[in-house]
Amino acid sequence: MYSFCLLKSTLAVLQAVAYTPSMSLNIVIVCGSVREDRKSILAANYAAGLVKEAGHNAEVVDFVKSPLPFVDTPVSPGDLKGNYPYAEVMQWSKIATNADAFIFAIPEYNHGYSGVFKNAIDWLYREFHHKPVALVGVSNGSVGGARVIEQIRAVCGAYALYDIKENVMVRKVQEVFDDNGQLLQPIYEKQFKSMIEALANAAEAMKPLRK
Ligand SMILES: Cc1cc2nc3c(=O)[nH]c(=O)nc-3n(C[C@H](O)[C@H](O)[C@H](O)COP(=O)(O)O)c2cc1C
Repeated sequence: MYSFCLLKSTLAVLQAVAYTPSMSLNIVIVCGSVREDRKSILAANYAAGLVKEAGHNAEVVDFVKSPLPFVDTPVSPGDLKGNYPYAEVMQWSKIATNADAFIFAIPEYNHGYSGVFKNAIDWLYREFHHKPVALVGVSNGSVGGARVIEQIRAVCGAYALYDIKENVMVRKVQEVFDDNGQLLQPIYEKQFKSMIEALANAAEAMKPLRK
């Protein structure tokens, strides 16, 4: 009887360990548009909601609320060792440093990513090292930011950012979200959720690289 009880409690402990949900992660969602009436913010906020639903912390970085100056330092910001000359950049650096993973929600402008976005990531360097990023391309055309996603992939390596395969291409964004950010096309929910799940898995797996 005693050994049966011991076996049962051992199994319960093993099960608890096996099914312990992953720790809560800090996921930072960057919106790459500062335009009046921009749509990328709707995709960024929608992703943030799903990140929270999945039990993680979500922070949307919106450069309308905290604009960044252009990179203007005499040396590459990566060589400044975190001593940035602007309070806004220090704040962006702090947010990125605390992140376990990123989602970049970036508009397609003339077949490329926005200047606002590139300027923002060029301010930082080590803050991104060995962290995963999931890419969301946003366009009002039918290509859904596919070109943006591929172009961002081309530069991720420079920041030692690991761009996961799973992404979301938000085509004809004006038909995907209403003005309040409500999702109008349910098919996107599954895509965002799969992407976030893959991102969280990558973030967990990459933690030892940053120790
Ligand atoms: C400067 C500029 C260039 C654009 N170029 C494209 C483009 O090449 N392809 C496309 O599908 N949409 C293009 N758009 C439309 C955006 O995809 C659209 O505004 C979408 O809502 C995403 O950008 P937003 O977050 O700034 O709203 C362009 C918009 C701007 C402002």
